[in-house]
Amino acid sequence: MALAVSDPRWSAVDDYIAGKLIGEDAALAAALADNRRAGLPAIDVSPAQGKLLQLLAKGVGARRILEIGTLGGYSTIWLARALEPDGRLVTLELDPAYAAVARMNIDQAGVGDLVEIRIGPACDTLADLCGGDDASFDFIFVDADKENYAAYLGYAIRLSRPGTMLVFDNVVREGEVMNPQSDDPKVPGTRQLYDALQDNRRIDATAIQTVGSKKWDGFLLALVQ
Ligand SMILES: C[S@@+](CC[C@H](N)C(=O)[O-])C[C@H]1O[C@@H](n2cnc3c(N)ncnc32)[C@H](O)[C@@H]1O
Repeated sequence: MALAVSDPRWSAVDDYIAGKLIGEDAALAAALADNRRAGLPAIDVSPAQGKLLQLLAKGVGARRILEIGTLGGYSTIWLARALEPDGRLVTLELDPAYAAVARMNIDQAGVGDLVEIRIGPACDTLADLCGGDDASFDFIFVDADKENYAAYLGYAIRLSRPGTMLVFDNVVREGEVMNPQSDDPKVPGTRQLYDALQDNRRIDATAIQTVGSKKWDGFLLALVQ
């Protein structure tokens, strides 16, 4: 059972960081407001996490970005803004209603021309992507159903090249990830991701625990060799 640990200082520090290093952004604020109005769950990345994704994607000079798990497009907007003008971002979403909200948010943020949303179970859309032209991405962000994280790693490897950066979100789960008997149904899939990466010589990886407005969780960062 998760401890549901939380401390109000975590969110306060996130606000401090956002105030100092991120600032206000009308398009991102509007996207979050539209998501809540449309009844989407508040499971978008935080502003600090969105900025981190953007910096990482910029750092590897990403021209092609793949995102698994669009929701209302909040993280998509952060990542699309990392792209060069001739770049492309493909984002995968199961729920057509979420994808419609994301399309509106992404267009309103002025990055609509760079972003393609593919609707359906990601394992199906990923299989299609593997069979298509130009099936190589520079940066891949995985933030969908944890039950499929190991499968998403397999697809991410097929859709990468040496130097591709991979980021998997929510890989600590309030510490439950180390509990093989966890009640959290998302834990086994997350553990399978770690198992698949253990001793994998093609992927160099680490994971970082985080606290903040999204409570105690973490992300896994990997580079394809
Ligand atoms: C945590 S949310 C994504 C949040 C988003 N990345 C952000 O930060 O703004 C996870 C999303 O994955 C989607 N999802 C869940 N299972 C999926 C699947 N099998 N294929 C594609 N998308 C899926 C959910 O509908 C949800 O919108």
